[in-house]
Amino acid sequence: MEKTKIILDCDPGHDDAVAILLAARDPGIELLGVTVVAGNQTLENTQRNARKVLQWCNCDVPVYAGCPGPLVREKIIAADIHGSTGLDGPVFPELTKPLENEHAVMFMIRTLLESQGDITVVTTGPMTNLAMAIRLEPRIIEKIRRIVLMGGSYTNGNVTPAAEFNIIADAEAAHICFGCGRPIVMVGLDVTRKALCYPEIVERMGKIGNRASDLFVALMGHFCRTQKEVFGWEGGPLHDPVTIAYLIDPSVLTLKPMNVQIDLRSTISYGRTNCDAFGYLQLPPTAEVAVDIDVQRFWDIVETGLRRYSEDDT
Ligand code: RIB
Ligand code: CA
Repeated sequence: MEKTKIILDCDPGHDDAVAILLAARDPGIELLGVTVVAGNQTLENTQRNARKVLQWCNCDVPVYAGCPGPLVREKIIAADIHGSTGLDGPVFPELTKPLENEHAVMFMIRTLLESQGDITVVTTGPMTNLAMAIRLEPRIIEKIRRIVLMGGSYTNGNVTPAAEFNIIADAEAAHICFGCGRPIVMVGLDVTRKALCYPEIVERMGKIGNRASDLFVALMGHFCRTQKEVFGWEGGPLHDPVTIAYLIDPSVLTLKPMNVQIDLRSTISYGRTNCDAFGYLQLPPTAEVAVDIDVQRFWDIVETGLRRYSEDDT
């Protein structure tokens, strides 16, 4: 089976951590590197968190630190959800996995330029690193096979009524990425808010009984509590892993081509992904937007992904 080569750009973040777990061991995915950006927490925390997760699961995937903040606007973080470390809850051993010396943006540029144009860039945080790479070296654009992002929504947001966190945290970066001309799959809140990690899901994954499932349970202990406190969810929406589940089995999502434009001008709607679901503007589609998710299939993919770590315990 030909593997899907990916760069995973993220801001761990509890849900980013689960996305890393799924991507690192799937036989159909070649995780070339994890690049990290400021988002849920500061870059110092998010890069450390990515290293902690990969070390926990014995995954020899390099981690590269990227941009410490957005291109234009002031930095925002999501400590209310992810805590002061960005990965509150689990207790990790001493961190020994090193951070690569190369900047994430330079890693993206070098890897894409050297490629055969077969790399998918997955972003599950603010799109600052990818936007910087595109601006710094436009030759990479034709080398990006496609962008699969967790972000936006064609309904409402989770930071403002209009805007979702990954987009509003660096709307200018999202604008650059959405305008680059490469195929885009937008996995927004419209579907990720259906992937609710209810207590019975946590119990189901906990029964697997390996390092990855233990980490999942510890992560969800914090994540689901804060999601209930802030949003009233009975189960935390597991946003980021939906991107990886889509790569593993595209049938898990239903996509609809839409013209998507990022609102940079408005005050009240700044950071909104304006998705022209009905073609009012008569403009060409710029993204495939996820409009539905097979929730059962998604959780089956998550369980299968966590079970892949059981061989470590043999
Ligand atoms: O809005 C949800 C997104 O913002 C997720 O990627 C979460 O990790 C945060 O980055
Ligand atoms: Ca994220």
